[in-house]
Amino acid sequence: MCGIVGIVGHSPVAPLIVDALKRLEYRGYDSAGVATIEHGELGRRRAEGKLVNLEHRLGDQPLGGLIGIGHTRWATHGVPNETNAHPHFSRDVAIVHNGIIENFAELRDELSADGYEFASETDTEVVAHLIARELAKGATPVKAAHKALARLEGAFALAIMFRGDEDLLIGARNGPPLAVGHGDGEMFLGSDAIALAPFTDSITYLEDGDWVVIRRKEMSIFDMAGNPVERRRQKSVGTSYLVDKGNHRHFMQKEIFEQPEVISHTLSNYLDFTKGTARQIDLPFDFASLDRLTISACGTAYLAGLISKYWFERLARLPVDIDIASEFRYREVPMSPRMAAMFISQSGETADTLASLRYCRGEGVPIASIVNVPESTIGRESDAVLPTLAGPEIGVASTKAFTCQLSALASLAVRAAHARGHVSAEQGKKLVRELSEAPRFASQVLRLDEQIEKVARDLSQVHHVLYLGRDTNFPLAMEGALKLKEISYIHAEGYAAGELKHGPIALIDENMPVIVIAPYDRIFEKTVSNMQEVAARGGRIILITDQRGAERATVKTMDTIVLPDMPEIITPIVYALPIQMLAYHTAVHMGTDVDQPRNLAKSVTVE
Ligand code: AGP
Repeated sequence: MCGIVGIVGHSPVAPLIVDALKRLEYRGYDSAGVATIEHGELGRRRAEGKLVNLEHRLGDQPLGGLIGIGHTRWATHGVPNETNAHPHFSRDVAIVHNGIIENFAELRDELSADGYEFASETDTEVVAHLIARELAKGATPVKAAHKALARLEGAFALAIMFRGDEDLLIGARNGPPLAVGHGDGEMFLGSDAIALAPFTDSITYLEDGDWVVIRRKEMSIFDMAGNPVERRRQKSVGTSYLVDKGNHRHFMQKEIFEQPEVISHTLSNYLDFTKGTARQIDLPFDFASLDRLTISACGTAYLAGLISKYWFERLARLPVDIDIASEFRYREVPMSPRMAAMFISQSGETADTLASLRYCRGEGVPIASIVNVPESTIGRESDAVLPTLAGPEIGVASTKAFTCQLSALASLAVRAAHARGHVSAEQGKKLVRELSEAPRFASQVLRLDEQIEKVARDLSQVHHVLYLGRDTNFPLAMEGALKLKEISYIHAEGYAAGELKHGPIALIDENMPVIVIAPYDRIFEKTVSNMQEVAARGGRIILITDQRGAERATVKTMDTIVLPDMPEIITPIVYALPIQMLAYHTAVHMGTDVDQPRNLAKSVTVE
């Protein structure tokens, strides 16, 4: 993920910006850069790689100026070199960006046709040119920025500066977080409160769709329609440690809402959106020569692996054995030279998963691990680490790590499918394009939060819940049940919908809500039949579907949560959000300790 900073102050800003960028180091970076305005001119220093390279560059060629912006980059579009490093310029405009502009190709073509020349391969540069083009038509900087923002699709947090106005910063947020810091005669923009901690603890968090006009002594926030909006100014707490809850009640809620951003950064680590291909990340095996892939993990991570089995087998025709690690480690599974092993773990310290990895190590099988902590034990003992870029996950109930695990696994499945000759270059590009839309759909689904909170009120009154799903929605049904039981303590089970009639249907009565996860797909009618079986026995149904499913679900439901129609490959990633939100709000209604539920720990480092 990238980090962005902006300062309009009364002392030289370049060293302050670098200090702020250091505090965003937990986000990782491929390059870094600073731009300032001094004596009416835009100046810029950028460097590939570690932040220390930028510091050396600034030491050799200092930058003056009392207004500036800075950036740490995790490459999404364009290789991580100095040319692609932010800030990006266009005539009088300087900009830094965190996120992905999904319609950048179309905008790039339009701007090129208007004579704008691109110096980089980044999506960000289109925003700078869009603003410059509006300025050239006579718009003021504020109007130019507002008009440009209206053209953008995708996820973005932006900080924008204008030559000719050394008392103006503009920020915008749609997905990735952005905070405004209030100083004494100076103002700040930053990706989070951590970045701004050296300057202020008085913070205003922007909401999705907000943009802000900042001057040294004033700040105005607007929605995308240009209407003024008010956002709470608050004291940032806990900036002494790495993360804080921001403007959320719990870490779990914050981490649910971070998902559009971290999904986008994880996807961009494995997919080249410019070329429409999977990146050739180093792996200790070649998908093309594998007979089988064994995957092992625990809890939510196991369920991510179970979903990926559908993808690897359907797209890449690669047989997958998926096991709960505590079982796998003792089953003494025979291994062969044409097998590989993959382990999934948020913490990278789960004892059962580590033991399974060591079993495979003993069998001489190449090992890759998908972890959120690359320097963890599991990461260190793997032949290849495949990071999820979820950032620190503090809530014991895993949310953003899960969707980042799915993002990495889906990307690897696309890579495997191409390597094994089961999808053409064009089909691969289509899948990559569909995956790139996951952050945007996740952002849209978060707007259902209020409706889901109402559904959760009813759920908090019951003692047993059944979750049903088919295909990749079956592991999601189990994940929904796991989320609910681990934070609300309500007994919940996830079942394959087709399995209902083989026993669980005996449980159905008016006291047993049944949550059905069913985006419209080729087997949707089968699930409708299962819902009819439930309704016929007085069961109360909560259906999570899309527009097409809602129109075709010929059965009475207690509630229907309707998500937007979306490409099938991203449904497991995006449909994870409503089941997380449902569990979260149910637990809040029940007054349980959402972030640290009883009996649980964030990392189970014992058997
Ligand atoms: C997820 O909500 C649970 N807290 C738990 O099942 C977790 O997924 C499991 O313990 C595995 O942890 P890991 O991903 O750190 O290995």
